[in-house]
Amino acid sequence: MRRALPFACKIAATGSYLPARIVPNRDLEAFLDTSDAWIRERTGIGARHVAADDEVTSDLAAQAARRALERAGIDVGGVDMIIVATVTPDGPMPACAVRVQHKLGATTIPAFDVSAACAGFLFGVTIADQFICSGAMQRVLVVGVELLSRIIDWSDRTTAVLFGDGAGAVVLERAPADSEQRIELCRIHSEGALADALSIPAGGSAEPVTERALHMRRNKVQMVGQEVFRAAVRGIADVGAEVVADAGLTMADIDRFVPHQANVRILSAVAERWGVPLDRFVLVLEETGNTSSASIPIALDRGLRDGRIASGERVLMCALGAGVSYGAVLARV
Ligand code: COA
Repeated sequence: MRRALPFACKIAATGSYLPARIVPNRDLEAFLDTSDAWIRERTGIGARHVAADDEVTSDLAAQAARRALERAGIDVGGVDMIIVATVTPDGPMPACAVRVQHKLGATTIPAFDVSAACAGFLFGVTIADQFICSGAMQRVLVVGVELLSRIIDWSDRTTAVLFGDGAGAVVLERAPADSEQRIELCRIHSEGALADALSIPAGGSAEPVTERALHMRRNKVQMVGQEVFRAAVRGIADVGAEVVADAGLTMADIDRFVPHQANVRILSAVAERWGVPLDRFVLVLEETGNTSSASIPIALDRGLRDGRIASGERVLMCALGAGVSYGAVLARV
């Protein structure tokens, strides 16, 4: 169980945004040696949203954030800090979060990015939870956002079919220490030994962008798919079980599972390990593809809006992504 802290932290509101343009699998058949049947069978993905040419990552994030703020019934003046989880910021510097802060109309509140790929949103929530439960802050906006269509190699069928663009946001808020509605437990881990299984090799200090790097597309996502698949099943299953056990619960006590959504076969394997039916998972993957750090807040928002998640239910959110970094957050919503 967690140590006693002066306050609890609760999810006050959620919001999400998907770009208008939808690219179904069939559209990829026109320029890739792939098929709708293969993509659906091997991943569970049917389509993905792709940002317009004039949209940037902070635009997607600001849209999702505005919806969350509106549902929380506050304007940005009521927020003490902004955390943006992303691996696709508007540019390498400054943080995407400061662009979001400015677009939302905030002026001096701290705003920074978290880079933990598909687990980034849960890393952001874990950080925010500490600031709120300690009493240091009252409200923190956490956004998971990705514009992955700009960093994938559209000629590589092993990655191009998997990813999509989107954003999800939560307003986290201080609550009394004995509040039922609260984040009950957070856990995060990283294993740098697996760093090369999913990476963008060029564009940093190890491999600056050169003409050769561009030609080799080393500034685009590269993935050893099966290694990531195995790590995801193990990491998500283990960290989810760890959090549930540490909370003194069993999987039977969890009402809904809101996992990171990369591949439905990963989630089926996780569900089997946990001994829970897949129909307790809130899935948006078929419609969105893998939106990395945005996938959990998008699914959470969708689930709360369409009734798949009811108020008061206990929700387990789990993710693994590049790093590899992984984590789980248990919450009563
Ligand atoms: N369309 C058609 N065929 C494809 C294809 C595509 N888009 N992508 C790969 N193939 C082919 C391969 O070339 C291979 O052909 P071969 O047997 O002739 O060599 C065959 O399909 C099987 O490839 P394999 O890599 O074994 O498929 P898989 O079942 O492992 O599925 C992934 C590939 C990428 C879908 C899967 O490994 C995966 O989901 N990995 C994790 C991805 C992930 O979660 N990434 C983000 C982490 S958050």
